[in-house]
Amino acid sequence: MRHRLATWLVEGPESATDRALANPAALGHGADLIGFGGGQPAVETYPLDALERAYAQAIRDSGARTLPYGPTQGLPALRELIAERLAGRGIHAAPDNIVILTGSVQGLHIVGRITLDRGDTIVTEAPTFMGALAAWEQQQPRYLSIPVDEHGMRVELLQEALTRPDQPHPGFVYLLPTFQNPSGVSLSRERRVELLDVAREHNLLIIEDDPYGEFWFEGEREPIPPLRSLPGSEDHVVYVGTFSKILAPGIRLAYAVVDPQLVAPILRSKRGIDFHTDTLLQQAVVHLARDVGFDLDAHVRKGRQLYRARRDAMLDALETTFNSDTRWTRPDGGFFMWLELPKGMSGDAVASAALDQGVAVFPGSLFFANGDGGANGLRLSYSNTTPERIREGVERLKRGVAAASA
Ligand SMILES: Cc1ncc(COP(=O)(O)O)c(C=O)c1O
Repeated sequence: MRHRLATWLVEGPESATDRALANPAALGHGADLIGFGGGQPAVETYPLDALERAYAQAIRDSGARTLPYGPTQGLPALRELIAERLAGRGIHAAPDNIVILTGSVQGLHIVGRITLDRGDTIVTEAPTFMGALAAWEQQQPRYLSIPVDEHGMRVELLQEALTRPDQPHPGFVYLLPTFQNPSGVSLSRERRVELLDVAREHNLLIIEDDPYGEFWFEGEREPIPPLRSLPGSEDHVVYVGTFSKILAPGIRLAYAVVDPQLVAPILRSKRGIDFHTDTLLQQAVVHLARDVGFDLDAHVRKGRQLYRARRDAMLDALETTFNSDTRWTRPDGGFFMWLELPKGMSGDAVASAALDQGVAVFPGSLFFANGDGGANGLRLSYSNTTPERIREGVERLKRGVAAASA
């Protein structure tokens, strides 16, 4: 039989995520491949023993309570735990305003389902996280892309765009204010305040996607507070957080903090997707975080040290390997840096030549919602590679650049 597929699949633009995943090597699989491609946390940080204890406890002690169909919003004990952890970062949210998700991309998808009509406009950063674009494909949105500089999204350009008479009112603004994927930069404190002013003036909904915010590299205190922690953000900002980077991505557990008005539509939409997130997993994560033999905060602090050492190794290796015609960002946290090759060089060609040399990187062209940027860019991820392998990977990248220029 010939299956009839929906118009958005047949006629919509090519999926950037599909392009990225088309070559499994790009995610770091393969014998001697060095993976600067995907945004994987370091495998050695997975808390395997603590997870084993937590799952056993969830089955043994709470199985009868946990395993029937559960609440769509998520287990109250997990929502309380998340509310406590967020309060430590200045985000004050009642457990009733938190929705548990099966991965943060599900949250992005659901906000799209409840706010967008076909052809509506979404504001994104340029560059942006390509995985998010997959969440909204069905609505065939238009994108208003706002460039990012070393202080994050250029909010003044958003303000300017919104005052143009022909600019449709956006369904929402999607951004990664902290240690952005793919550039590694953060939105400055001043611009966060300006963005909230613009949101108030233009009645905008903002999605703050924050998978990397807890991995800052300097000092005890978080350097720039999350957008959702700032005064006046409550009605404008949907905050999306995840356990993927602090525990492990395979467990698929994330959450959104939302305005009370949005809870019912979000739950209605989620019921039509998976009814609720895996309750055994939710219960296990509650046990894990309350386990006296495992300190989640210390675990995150160790992650900060590990990723800082890897960022430093990559910066050192880039400095000794490339000359001044190649530039890169210096992230203060997170997993990524953005490398700009000399003008006229193709990031796609270099990514492909680098793969032949045994190092996977993502070409910058994947990260632009309108497919109109990043031609000479590369995203490099240092999170899941040891410092020694990072040095080797940068050497291989240099050989890839030479091969692509030949
Ligand atoms: C910006 C951003 N948002 C969301 C995700 C996905 O998170 P999750 O595993 O919770 O779906 C990632 C993963 O790489 C990401 O970089």
